[in-house]
Amino acid sequence: MNIRDSEIIEQLLSQSGFISTSDPEQADLIILNTCSIRAKAEHKVYSLLGDLRKNKLKNPNLLIGVSGCVAQQEGNVIFKKMSHVDIVTGTQQISQLPEMIQRISSGVSKKEIAIELDDNFIIPAAHNLPNHNISTPSPPDVKKFVNIMQGCNNYCSYCVVPATRGREISRPVSDILDEIKMLVNKGTKEITLLGQNVNSYGKTNKVSSKPVDFPDLLTMVAATKGLRRLRFTTSNPKDLTQKLMECFTSVGNLCPHFHLPVQSGSNKILKNMNRKYSVEKYRDKVQTLLSIEPKIALATDIIIGFPGETDEDFEKTMSLLNSVRFHSSFSFKYSDRPGTRSMKFDNKIEETVKSERLKIFQNRQDQISLEKNREYLGKSVEILIESMKKDTAQGRTGTNHIVHVPYLKSMKVGDFANCLIEQAGKHSLKGKVEVTP
Ligand code: 5AD
Ligand code: SF4
Repeated sequence: MNIRDSEIIEQLLSQSGFISTSDPEQADLIILNTCSIRAKAEHKVYSLLGDLRKNKLKNPNLLIGVSGCVAQQEGNVIFKKMSHVDIVTGTQQISQLPEMIQRISSGVSKKEIAIELDDNFIIPAAHNLPNHNISTPSPPDVKKFVNIMQGCNNYCSYCVVPATRGREISRPVSDILDEIKMLVNKGTKEITLLGQNVNSYGKTNKVSSKPVDFPDLLTMVAATKGLRRLRFTTSNPKDLTQKLMECFTSVGNLCPHFHLPVQSGSNKILKNMNRKYSVEKYRDKVQTLLSIEPKIALATDIIIGFPGETDEDFEKTMSLLNSVRFHSSFSFKYSDRPGTRSMKFDNKIEETVKSERLKIFQNRQDQISLEKNREYLGKSVEILIESMKKDTAQGRTGTNHIVHVPYLKSMKVGDFANCLIEQAGKHSLKGKVEVTP
C-alpha cells in the first residue's frame, strides 16, 4: 500500500514541476513515506530523518516531509523531535502535498501539517490524479498494485493499522475497473488488488448500484482484456469464504498463490490477538482451499513472542508450520505499538526469547521452503520477466516463486517465458528458457 501511495506522491509532485532524483544530495524536496506496523520501521524513519539534518545544513532550501503511517501516528511530535522537518502528512492527506509545499515555498507558512482521518474518505479515482495519461519515457511497469479499499475495522489487538489508516472504506467498482483498464492498456501484465482485508470488500459502503463482494470484483477485474495475471492481498482467514476459494478454479488468470496470515498456532494466543478464528478453523480452510486448487502456494505471516506466549504456545506454532508446510512466510518479533490493546497486556516476552524463537521458526521455514522448491526441479513453469541484470533475467511464476534464467537477446521485461527448473534454493529457483512466446 505504501508503494502505491509513493507512486501517487510522485505523480502529484511531478505535476507541480518536480523531477525525481535518486541522489538525496541533489534533492530540493525529500518526502519519507513511512510505515509504523512495527517499532523497527518507525525507528528507521527517525534514524533516516536524523541523517537528513546534514542535507538541510548543506542546502537550506531543502524541504523535508514525512507522510504515511508514522506521520499519522506521531503528528506534531515529529516537529518536536526533528526540528528540521517542514511537512507532516497523514495517510489520507497526501493529495494536499503540492499545496502545502507551495505555501512553504512562497513564505505563507513555515511548517505544514495535515493528519485528519475522515470516516468517509474516498481513495481518489485514477483520472482525478494528475498525469495519469502523460506518457513517461520509462517502459510501463509490468506489474502494478491497485487499491480496492483502505483502512480496517478488525482491531486485532496488536495492530496499529486501524489507528493509522482509519475505518474501512471500499472504492467504487467503476474506479477500480477504469484504473485497471488504463494500466493494462499501457502494458501492465499483472495486477495485485490491495486491501487490509480484501474479504470485506463492499461490506461497509456502497460500491456499485448492485451489491458486489470480493469474489464478484475479482471476476469482473479478471475479465479485463489483456490482463494476464491477477493477485490479491491480504485476506483475513476468519472471512475467507468458499466462494473466494472457488475463484482459483473459475477465474483463469488468478495466480495460484495465497497469502493467508495465521499469526500464531496457539488458540490461546489467537484469542488474545482478537483474530476470531481457531487453529482448527484455519487448518480446515487451508485443506478446503488446497482440495479446490492443489497448485496453490500458500504463504503466511507469523508474530513471534506475543505477550503471554509460552514455550508450549510456540511449539504449537511450530507444529502448525510443520503440518501446513507453507511455501514461505513473513515472521516478525512482536512489538508494542502505540494505542493498541496488546500494549497494555502483562507477560511481555523478553527480547532474547523472541529472537531465539524467531530463529528457530525461520530456520525451519527455510528448510521447508527448500524442500518445497525442490519439488519444482525438472518441471516446466511459466514466468513473467520482471527485470534484467547483466547476463541474468529474473521473473516470477504464478505461484510467486522467483526464477533466475540466463538472459537471451530476444527477451524483454514484460515477456512471458516457459522455463525448465534446474536448481532450487530456499528463496528462489534457477532454470533455462524453453520457448519465448
Ligand atoms: N508486532 C509484530 N508484527 C506485527 N504485525 C502487525 N502488527 C505487528 C506488531 N505489533 C505483522 C502481522 C501482519 C504483518 C503485516 O505485520 O504479522 O500480518
Ligand atoms: Fe491489522 Fe490486518 Fe488485523 Fe486489520 S486484519 S487489524 S490490518 S492485522
